[in-house]
Amino acid sequence: DAGTPRLTVIGTGYLGATHAICMAVLGYEVLGVDTDPEKVRRLAAGDVPIFEPGLPELLTKALESGRLRFTTSHAEAAEFGDVHFLCVGTPQMPDSDAADLTYLDAAVTALAPHLRRRALVVGKSTVPVGTAQRLTGVIRELAPAGDDVELAWNPEFLREGFAVDDTMRPDRLVFGVASDWADERLRAAFRPVLDNGTPVIRTDLATAELVKVAANSFLATKISYINAMAEVCEAVGADVKDLADSLALDERIGGRFLRPGLGFGGGCLPKDIRAFAHRAEEIGVGQAVSFLRQVDDINRRRRARTVDLVREVLGGSVQGKRIAAWGAAFKPNSDDIRDTPALDVAHTLHRLGGDVRVYDPAALGNARRAFPDLRYGDSAFDVAEDADVVVLLTEWAVFREVEPEALAEVVAHRRVVDGRHALDAARWRAAGWEYRALGRN
Ligand code: UDX
Repeated sequence: DAGTPRLTVIGTGYLGATHAICMAVLGYEVLGVDTDPEKVRRLAAGDVPIFEPGLPELLTKALESGRLRFTTSHAEAAEFGDVHFLCVGTPQMPDSDAADLTYLDAAVTALAPHLRRRALVVGKSTVPVGTAQRLTGVIRELAPAGDDVELAWNPEFLREGFAVDDTMRPDRLVFGVASDWADERLRAAFRPVLDNGTPVIRTDLATAELVKVAANSFLATKISYINAMAEVCEAVGADVKDLADSLALDERIGGRFLRPGLGFGGGCLPKDIRAFAHRAEEIGVGQAVSFLRQVDDINRRRRARTVDLVREVLGGSVQGKRIAAWGAAFKPNSDDIRDTPALDVAHTLHRLGGDVRVYDPAALGNARRAFPDLRYGDSAFDVAEDADVVVLLTEWAVFREVEPEALAEVVAHRRVVDGRHALDAARWRAAGWEYRALGRN
């Protein structure tokens, strides 16, 4: 089995679509597998079902090269591939903090019975530590090739909006392997990425699983840390923006993920810290990461405090007040609204009787489907018409670039609540606006 492996990518959501497309562009023969025939049809037709800069062009390129195909058949995948990447989602359970492994288990049980020759199965999904070991047993039991099929873990760290770059030029690759053969196969499956000078850490399965949740927990903790400082700043009239800027210049701390504001959302950070805390409790080390519960609490409190600040700016009640909500996505340059602080706040203001109108450059379609009872507009200015307050919830560049003098012409009252510390406070104040942000005076 020397030489360049043929790859399959099982699950063509965010992670899988990106991985399949990038690997084909890098020169591999790739077969993407999904149980949803509609997804398979769209991808095969060159249509990327997610919002990700650069990905549509790369899909066209990959399809034209003839190296990328899609199927719904796991039997075909097993027949075709030497290395099988598991890229299905592991969302939060509806009624607990645990990760839902239904899709992952289904993918493995669909693939394994067809594995009749030596192959490597590589998990990329974010999972509770111990999952890889369990799945090794499942594969051994179900695969006709038995011990000739190995499982490895290769966690994925890609960020939405930078998914292509993060795949082609990651900070590091982590190979959780149980043998030299698996390590060699993984190196062969990432040859062009390694040739870019990407560092590799070879380790065991459990460590590889943990790296991902440890990284996301650290990032979430850093954000909640600065947001906890914002709460302290509020109490004493200090300025968390200046505090964060000062901390950031200490090279040991650094400024990334130290931006205070409305806090983190999205499909990863919130569910990953909850699943990690839950898993740690299950295996008897809950105390070690109990601080993650506080990280989560601090983060949730940001949303409530932002609502309170809007209420305060409006003189105590939002009832009947016109509120321009700028942003719906959980972060800029994304159309993703999973666990988004922006719509959480907008919807709460709406429930409290505010007349809320939402605008977002990319996430309006998703927002409309998820919150049909909210009202929406076509631009930052459109939703600000006659507004009593403008509330910035996602720091898109179009919002930063708004001229406060021009916006003053359309609003009823010059009041702005900056939930992301994205606007130039001095500039807005000079234009006659009451500028407010959490943790700033
Ligand atoms: C994250 C991880 O960064 C990535 O490595 C992992 O693979 C998946 O989860 P993503 O969810 O795409 O990626 O978004 P990210 O850029 O990390 O932002 C997460 C959230 O934190 C956003 O809601 C963002 O607004 C918020 N954030 C980020 C802050 O509030 N302050 C910061 O300083 C940075």
